[in-house]
Amino acid sequence: MPEGERLQKALAAAGLGSRRRCEAMIESGRVSVNGRTAALGDRVDVSRDRVCVDGVPVELEVTKRYYLLNKPAGYITTVKDTRGRATVMDLIHEEGRLFPVGRLDRDTRGLLLITNDGYLSHMLMHPSHGVEKTYVVRARGRLSARGLSRLRGGIPLEEGTTAEAKVKVLGQDAEGCLLEMTIHEGRKRQVRRMCAAVGLEVVDLVRTRFGPLDLKGVEEGSYRPLGEGEVRKLRDLGGGGP
Ligand code: URA
Repeated sequence: MPEGERLQKALAAAGLGSRRRCEAMIESGRVSVNGRTAALGDRVDVSRDRVCVDGVPVELEVTKRYYLLNKPAGYITTVKDTRGRATVMDLIHEEGRLFPVGRLDRDTRGLLLITNDGYLSHMLMHPSHGVEKTYVVRARGRLSARGLSRLRGGIPLEEGTTAEAKVKVLGQDAEGCLLEMTIHEGRKRQVRRMCAAVGLEVVDLVRTRFGPLDLKGVEEGSYRPLGEGEVRKLRDLGGGGP
């Protein structure tokens, strides 16, 4: 009996799609084991071998875990802060290595995924998958019709113009405005910078949706595990695996 587990079985168990799909990835040369392109029939030791798909390492052994956190303001999105500031991981009371998917600014509130699935995290953050993120934005200043159309059509930022965004005006008065913005990029402080470019100063920013997920039923400062169906939907956003 040859040693180890069949590569396609290990990949499927790691959540990269059906066995058939994983076989197809191997056949098309996208999978490597310890730096060498894998072939159908290869077996792996899931605790030792280093397996990559399209050059991205895949964790084969660990049970994957996924949580949806409703982040309050005042926490930074990192696993550990060298300056001892509060991090989102201070809100997660679970054993084992976990990390946030992407980032929210310290003062941004709302939906943040926490996982130990490096592969899915990478896929969700990759610009090619364009996962939609929705924010409710309270801002000081008046949004003109021209400003609204610029927010929707693209704002030139230092690193290039933003992609089209969906923007709804939920309310506007003398103090400022309340907007709902859906973007599918993830640039640093993107919503704040887009708003600043049209003369708005963001005073509160909440991420209310991430792909198919929303904040329903999760109080600020608390979190819940994702259901299997939710994880499947997230994987589908990345094309059902690589
Ligand atoms: N855009 C921002 O400006 N900040 C965030 O935290 C998220 C999106």
